[in-house]
Amino acid sequence: MRLAVIPGDGIGPEVVAEGLKVLRAVAPDVESTPYDLGASRWQRTGELLPDTVLDELRRHDAILLGAIGDPSVPPGILERGLLLRLRFELDHHVNLRPARLFDGVRSPLAAPGAIDMLCVREGTEGPYVGNGGVLRRDTPHEVATEVSLNTAFGVERVVRYAFERALARPRRHLTLIHKTNVLTHAGSLWSRTVEEVSAEFPEVTVAYQHVDAASMFFVTDPGRFDVIVTDNLFGDIVTDLAAAVTGGIGLAASGNLDASGTNPSMFEPVHGSAPDIAGKGVADPTATVLSVGLLLDHLGRADQARKVNAAVAFDLSTRDPEAQVRTEDVGDRLAALTGG
Ligand code: IPM
Ligand code: MN
Repeated sequence: MRLAVIPGDGIGPEVVAEGLKVLRAVAPDVESTPYDLGASRWQRTGELLPDTVLDELRRHDAILLGAIGDPSVPPGILERGLLLRLRFELDHHVNLRPARLFDGVRSPLAAPGAIDMLCVREGTEGPYVGNGGVLRRDTPHEVATEVSLNTAFGVERVVRYAFERALARPRRHLTLIHKTNVLTHAGSLWSRTVEEVSAEFPEVTVAYQHVDAASMFFVTDPGRFDVIVTDNLFGDIVTDLAAAVTGGIGLAASGNLDASGTNPSMFEPVHGSAPDIAGKGVADPTATVLSVGLLLDHLGRADQARKVNAAVAFDLSTRDPEAQVRTEDVGDRLAALTGG
């Protein structure tokens, strides 16, 4: 397995080191190449993602990314120039974000019940495409647009992927989240696509929720969700909510997938670079380790993925919830559990 590694900024390098420890324990054939991308490279050289680096990244089986972002970099530069550019250039049209409440993990909800959902967020369209502009900037009459792009091709492929995932799960239930009562153009495309593709998946039951109501149910009744499919921006928002109710972003994993397999997929914890705790050895690497699990699963190594997930489940169920997390200790425990 040829793996490109982008440790990135802040706690990124710390959590990635532990993720790699676990990966090597379970998959000794991994050959990893580090890539220096992120805030410090930009500050040193002005480079975000040189084309030559992008070409090299393409020649790997997968990418593991820690976190990108630094308070000294103006907002938007690293997001658009690096993270989103990677997702768009590598056609990561599925942004896969599981949210499961593990035994031993405290939810902020009083009575969370069982939560085990899989959010399939569209990754290359919506308002993220940069289709907009500004007129009369810095005047009282300034007008700004940010047009959400939704294509039949893009919606169909992510909806189909979500149905396939739903079919492979015990509950076989898919919820479309949108705002079809207001965003009638894009909403109609999404609803029609779900309806059409559902004909090919008669075993999968389908539900629909407006994004506002869905947000309420994430808090009042998260157990109702199994697989979710939604657009890029709604998916960004509801997956933070899903992470919050299942123990926080310290545990939230994600995969940016080119489901066609043409380009390498990229796996990253949902959390950011957390500069306030960087270098202290207290960042929880679990989200990165779970992202490694998604990576293995995506590369067809289901047995190895299962070992990683089982190690995390065991570790979380036996952790003292009051004790301070030590990054390396968690990585060592998980590596020992998976390698043994
Ligand atoms: C995420 C992040 C990114 C997004 C930002 C940093 C561009 O919030 O991965 O969820 O909006 O997708
Ligand atoms: Mn986000």
